[in-house]
Amino acid sequence: MISTLRGMKDILSHESEKYLFFIENCSRIAKNYGFEFISTPILEETALFKRSVGESSDIVGKEMYQFIDKGNNDVCLRPEGTAGIVRSFIQNKMDKAGGVKRFFYYGAMFRYEKPQKGRFRQFHQFGVESFGISDVREDAAVILMLNEILNFFKIKTLLKLNSLGCHKCMPPYKTKLIKFLDTLDGLCEDCKRRKSINPIRVLDCKNDQCQNLLNKAPLLINELCDECRDDFENLKSILDKFGINYEVDAKLVRGLDYYSKTAFEFISEDIGAQSSVAGGGRYDRLVEFLGGRATPAIGFAIGVERILELIVIDESKRDGIYIGTLEKEGQDLAFRAATILRRKTKVNIEFEGKGLKNILKNADKANAKYCICIGENELLSNTLWVKNLEDKESFNIEIKSLGEFQW
Ligand code: HAM
Repeated sequence: MISTLRGMKDILSHESEKYLFFIENCSRIAKNYGFEFISTPILEETALFKRSVGESSDIVGKEMYQFIDKGNNDVCLRPEGTAGIVRSFIQNKMDKAGGVKRFFYYGAMFRYEKPQKGRFRQFHQFGVESFGISDVREDAAVILMLNEILNFFKIKTLLKLNSLGCHKCMPPYKTKLIKFLDTLDGLCEDCKRRKSINPIRVLDCKNDQCQNLLNKAPLLINELCDECRDDFENLKSILDKFGINYEVDAKLVRGLDYYSKTAFEFISEDIGAQSSVAGGGRYDRLVEFLGGRATPAIGFAIGVERILELIVIDESKRDGIYIGTLEKEGQDLAFRAATILRRKTKVNIEFEGKGLKNILKNADKANAKYCICIGENELLSNTLWVKNLEDKESFNIEIKSLGEFQW
């Protein structure tokens, strides 16, 4: 038997319903915030991710699904969505056009990670990217929007917030941090590697021994330049005004290299070790870095699989109609009825019913509100037998009245 690859799974039945419910409502909320849908290819040139996500990141360093295609191109399944959207923004000259562009997207991402609960090799993200606004109100708007999405699905999270500074305050801080790290003895192998490639990644190492050693590490939040400090203070005060709870986490550095200034993550305590349900931040230098006209930008992505674990759908509410036939001769009538009713509501149909009891059981399983059945009597009277599965009342209805009935 051929199965899915390790770390990959089918999204089926109950989960697929939750998936659609989630994407539909995220899209609705994103549109309310002025975002438009964008879809970019899953396969891109490897160089795009190396340059944007960064060679020092685990994502590029260890986790890429990278290969040479038949045309000898070095390509890669996207590990995240931001890089492709920035590529599209530049390729389609939106950077040159100026103004503001806001996009939302969703789809599969690929990272060759060690699979565990909440961590897959193929997973899905719903994300947004906003281009052209450096004002910190846009940072607040995307955080408020993410918060609205989480509230809509009644998901409790903790918002962790940090500022990663800019090209003015980050370099001197890095020098200071490296000096401090050089005094330490006992950092884990990963941290030793990160120290030379991207020292700030050492700060969020999950190893307890490293964290103990890092207790006295200098923190960028105390060394921000005036502009970054003002922006961070303004952002916090807007979030305070709108009643958004957050915790400043000076060691939150995120796993992608393109961030500057605002960085954030939403954490859930209800899904185990892989607790980050969404993350994002500002990436004001990335458009320019990838060859476009300098354009400030900010965005986030939600991990759909992790969120689905937390969404509870009310299954008590019945919906739609289930049609079954007891006689072969009833199949045409059943099909006609389904075609009429599908203009009004959700209809499921089976053509070779194995008895009324069985059809009612299937209707119940499908969580239908009504079960329609066509037997010998119905064929004779040219009507349909209907049972309301909520109040258990049954009655017969003529086919010409199907369209007017309040289902
Ligand atoms: P990220 O933090 O790498 O950010 O991913 C965002 C979310 O995707 C995570 O918080 C997590 O919920 C989910 N996720 C990541 N890896 C996995 C995995 N292996 N299995 C299941 N879920 C996973 C980004 O990708 C950035 N592009 C976000 C962004 C948009 N920043 C600015 N704009």
